[in-house]
Amino acid sequence: MIGTPLKQGATKIMLLGSGELGKEVVIEAQRLGVEVVAVDRYDNAPAMQVAHRSHVIDMLNREELDRVVRLEKPDYLVPEIEAINTEFLLELEADGFNVIPTARATNLTMNREGIRRLAAEELGLPTAAYRFASSLEEYREAVAAIGLPCVVKPIMSSSGKGQSVLRQEADLERSFNYAMEGARGASDRVIVEEFIPFDYEITLLTVRSVTGTSFCPPIGHRQIDGDYHESWQPMAMAPAVLAEARRQAEAVTGALGGRGLFGVEFFIKGDKVWFSEVSPRPHDTGMVTLISQNLSEFELHVRAILGLPVPEAENVAPAASHVILAEEQAAEVAFEGAAQALTVPGTKLRLFGKPDARRNRRMGVVVAFGADTDEARSKAEQAAHQVKINKLS
Ligand SMILES: Nc1ncnc2c1ncn2[C@@H]1O[C@H](COP(=O)(O)OP(=O)(O)OP(=O)(O)O)[C@@H](O)[C@H]1O
Ligand SMILES: [Mg+2]
Repeated sequence: MIGTPLKQGATKIMLLGSGELGKEVVIEAQRLGVEVVAVDRYDNAPAMQVAHRSHVIDMLNREELDRVVRLEKPDYLVPEIEAINTEFLLELEADGFNVIPTARATNLTMNREGIRRLAAEELGLPTAAYRFASSLEEYREAVAAIGLPCVVKPIMSSSGKGQSVLRQEADLERSFNYAMEGARGASDRVIVEEFIPFDYEITLLTVRSVTGTSFCPPIGHRQIDGDYHESWQPMAMAPAVLAEARRQAEAVTGALGGRGLFGVEFFIKGDKVWFSEVSPRPHDTGMVTLISQNLSEFELHVRAILGLPVPEAENVAPAASHVILAEEQAAEVAFEGAAQALTVPGTKLRLFGKPDARRNRRMGVVVAFGADTDEARSKAEQAAHQVKINKLS
């Protein structure tokens, strides 16, 4: 049963985190007549602009979370980012609130140690060799054990923050300090990973719903400094390699449980598949599905949450996405060149409406169709580069 928004019997989703991915989730929920309350730590966040109501709170603070959850009594608590007090989500779940996909999934995946130990040690999935360290001394030992080059990341961070590739002994201390700064006090622990010289990497969007587990066609992507820059679908893969990625995705999402869409990341070299990480929510590289699939990752997520059937999503044509990043900090910006961007045939522009900008903040995306993914990528890039972000104040 789905109720009527803003009435007693409304079906209510509370979104914890209100960025561009959340905005699309809200739009899909609105389309099904769901009442949506958007929450984030700053006002006028993208998803707030399309929700019924919003609250600005510190989502790491349990009292503040407790207050808005008891006030709104949502049917579904839908985390959209990692930086939430997930310990408290475990308590809310025990109290009968429905956390998507499960409180344990949000708790394990906000911490690289939790999800890595589950995937590698409990499920036996192949991953890059890894060690954890909480001091410079432990870090030295970890690097010595893993060998150079290696990848260093704070255990709690996303979008490449604090992440670097350590290639020579001389940079050891610097890479450790960089990770500590990137963690921003969330934790003083880092993961040191073997560097995987992959041929390509993919996101395998995996949906757990009443229908069972289904997979989207694989999405290829390219990251710059640990942050997504462009993605495309389909990514051409040998059937056996895709089958192995699906096997691993099913294992890890099955262990996390619940209903919803997951972004499962893999590194691939030849016929070898390494599990990298998983987000129990729509994935930024999945923005290409805004046009590339009959059902976008956002629509799939909302369907799964509401307990509606989820068929296997289909790729309708080769497509790509390319991010639009701010170059500098600004209290207000204006976008120039939308008209030039959209003269590139087969493109669409999405501007997120973020209230302010800072260097490398994702402000928009271009999605494009092409005869093949190479053409789609070059069209998306060409159009995205037409958009200039002007600082107004
Ligand atoms: N062990 C590794 N070997 C080679 N490349 C790696 C390794 N770990 C990470 N990378 C590269 O860095 C990117 C970001 O790493 P990862 O996904 O672990 O970080 P993240 O901060 O969680 O990123 P996001 O939040 O954007 O998904 C990967 O997509 C990959 O391109
Ligand atoms: Mg990642």
